[in-house]
Amino acid sequence: MTSSKELVEVVMTVNQTEVTRTVEPRLTLADFIRDELDLTGTKLGCEHGVCGACTVLLEGEPVRSCCTLAVQAAGGTVQTVEELCRLPRGARLRESFKKHHALQCGFCTPGFLVTSYELLEDRDELTVEEARRELSGNICRCTGYQGIVAAVVEASGAD
Ligand code: FES
Ligand code: FES
Repeated sequence: MTSSKELVEVVMTVNQTEVTRTVEPRLTLADFIRDELDLTGTKLGCEHGVCGACTVLLEGEPVRSCCTLAVQAAGGTVQTVEELCRLPRGARLRESFKKHHALQCGFCTPGFLVTSYELLEDRDELTVEEARRELSGNICRCTGYQGIVAAVVEASGAD
């Protein structure tokens, strides 16, 4: 018996670069980013859409790349933590995370940074309560969240 895998060509723009790869239709966007493009800033935790570690922006909106197929992002624009942290708001968030000791192992940090990056777009300064609510979809096993919330609140309202 022979098995044949159907492959599809996927073209998308990732971090301002157009990329083309021929992949299996079931390949997740997370694996596309990490394995095909070597952008390993995006992390895989639960792989079930729960922890937020794999968050990237697709057309400017946060998506869980573990639950999104690469073919679903075809033709689209993806931004990962690598690009966002080079931009002013991302750099501000990164420095604020450092200042507030908002990470320990750091595994959740890319997801928090990407989620926060989008959260702070066109927003006034966040309250602690707002930050806690808006970041509730991202899970951190280490920090207890205090530093993360403080970092995001301090970085907010500066655009
Ligand atoms: S790895 Fe995607 S949500 Fe946890
Ligand atoms: S710093 Fe370790 S999971 Fe958040």
